[in-house]
Amino acid sequence: MLQIKGLTKRYGDTRVLHRVDLQVASGEFVALLGESGVGKSTLLNCIAGLDDADEGRIVLGGVEVGALDADGRALMRRERLGFVFQAFHVLPHLSVEENVALPLRLLGRAGPGAGQDRVRMLLDAVGLAGLGERLPAQLSGGQLQRVAIARALVHEPALILADEPTGNLDPTTAARVLDLLLDQARRSGAACLLVTHSQAAAARADRVLRLTPQGVEAAAAAAAAAPAPA
Ligand SMILES: Nc1ncnc2c1ncn2[C@@H]1O[C@H](COP(=O)(O)OP(=O)(O)O)[C@@H](O)[C@H]1O
Ligand SMILES: [Mg+2]
Repeated sequence: MLQIKGLTKRYGDTRVLHRVDLQVASGEFVALLGESGVGKSTLLNCIAGLDDADEGRIVLGGVEVGALDADGRALMRRERLGFVFQAFHVLPHLSVEENVALPLRLLGRAGPGAGQDRVRMLLDAVGLAGLGERLPAQLSGGQLQRVAIARALVHEPALILADEPTGNLDPTTAARVLDLLLDQARRSGAACLLVTHSQAAAARADRVLRLTPQGVEAAAAAAAAAPAPA
């Protein structure tokens, strides 16, 4: 589903990504570890076509992201991608339910019926049942994070990119969110790339990789996970 070859990126003189090679198959759940500042979020942004690499290729479902123009990238994101941003990016003027339903609305799949059921099911799955009418300002950080997760999954995307999606959650809620992501990979065949500092999350992945200044290498789940940053 996702193939990355020789991806290199610099910000000015600072090299952030160096010859990154990475593949994630449909139905596969891959955890990506790496020290803070090594370029994990930058990598996800490049995959989503929100940022441009200097060298290398990203092929998503057979389509080269670098060859798409801005509209093509936006369409690709809308149809194929679920992105859980590190900073949530929940829309403040929409209710929880409206935020989660937004990808369906953009795809013309919202409205009473199936779409609404799926929104409710996801809110329930992330432990936010009953909070659908609230505005984001009335939620905690951990609750906002779960709105972002539900929104990323609602349209059953082929690729899920999740940037430290359990960073603000207690262990029980984090485990529940991991269940949901894994279920999405297993049942709808989504490829899932999870950036995490959590050993518990890495332990449940099919493969664990580590991003370093030299590229991507295989990592052992238990030994490799760094402690969560303060
Ligand atoms: N827009 C930007 N301009 C300049 N430097 C940036 C920009 N975005 C990120 N960086 C730098 O790139 C490096 C990688 O950042 P990031 O991808 O956020 O790391 P991580 O997610 O692994 O913590 C950091 O050193 C950061 O300061
Ligand atoms: Mg980051």
